[in-house]
Amino acid sequence: MMMPMMNALGYVLYVIVAVLGAYMAIAGLMNVGLTGVNVLTLGMIASFLTLAKSFTNPISQLANQFNSIITALAGASRIFKFMDEKSETDDGYVTLVNAKIDKDGNPIECEEKTDKWAWKHPHKDGSTTSYTWLKGEIVLDHVDFSYVSGKQILHNITIKADPGEKVALVGSTGAGKTTITNLINRFYDIDDGKIRFDGINITKIKKPDLRRSLGMVLQDVHLFT
Ligand SMILES: Nc1ncnc2c1ncn2[C@@H]1O[C@H](COP(=O)(O)OP(=O)(O)OP(=O)(O)O)[C@@H](O)[C@H]1O
Ligand SMILES: [Mg+2]
Repeated sequence: MMMPMMNALGYVLYVIVAVLGAYMAIAGLMNVGLTGVNVLTLGMIASFLTLAKSFTNPISQLANQFNSIITALAGASRIFKFMDEKSETDDGYVTLVNAKIDKDGNPIECEEKTDKWAWKHPHKDGSTTSYTWLKGEIVLDHVDFSYVSGKQILHNITIKADPGEKVALVGSTGAGKTTITNLINRFYDIDDGKIRFDGINITKIKKPDLRRSLGMVLQDVHLFT
């Protein structure tokens, strides 16, 4: 509000000076005949108008700087709010590992980079570990979700995307397309139903590994390597 108001006040001041000055000059011109002295000349009005401009300029500059301070304060409060956020908890235990093919065509874990990935699935008792190939099959199974309780965004959504298949979600603005992307990345946890990635419930997958296996480009783009 501050800057437009200061600017408008400057213009109003300009108009007042011009109108009043003109009036006084005309009245003065008329009086010249009587008294012989002209109090206000056109030149004086012109210089006065310039002075009025120079008077309002620093004021609107001050308003400008005030604006910057307010913006910075708003930014700072958001930064502090962000810093106070609790860290995500991660109770996933399935991890993503480099793998090579054994003689039966099954994945086995290896150190070197193979460009092939497998899900490493340690079993609860710690005795065995199973591996399944990363294929990229995504299933949403009767998913319910709400950002704030009471305002459900997704209700009973079931979608399947096969590996290599291109799937487009089409819907009006606010329909929940980005929300589905957020859920697959587990930025939020769903209220009901299941999301499975290559048949594994994503709540079991370690978050960094889950996100490593996905790539996303959103509407407001922040790209990281
Ligand atoms: N962080 C959030 N907190 C609360 N509500 C949200 C949040 N993000 C989105 N919503 C709400 O969830 C609904 C779905 O939003 P979403 O962003 O998924 O829509 P969209 O289909 O991606 O729309 P668009 O085509 O505009 O990108 C909207 O009603 C939106 O207001
Ligand atoms: Mg969107």
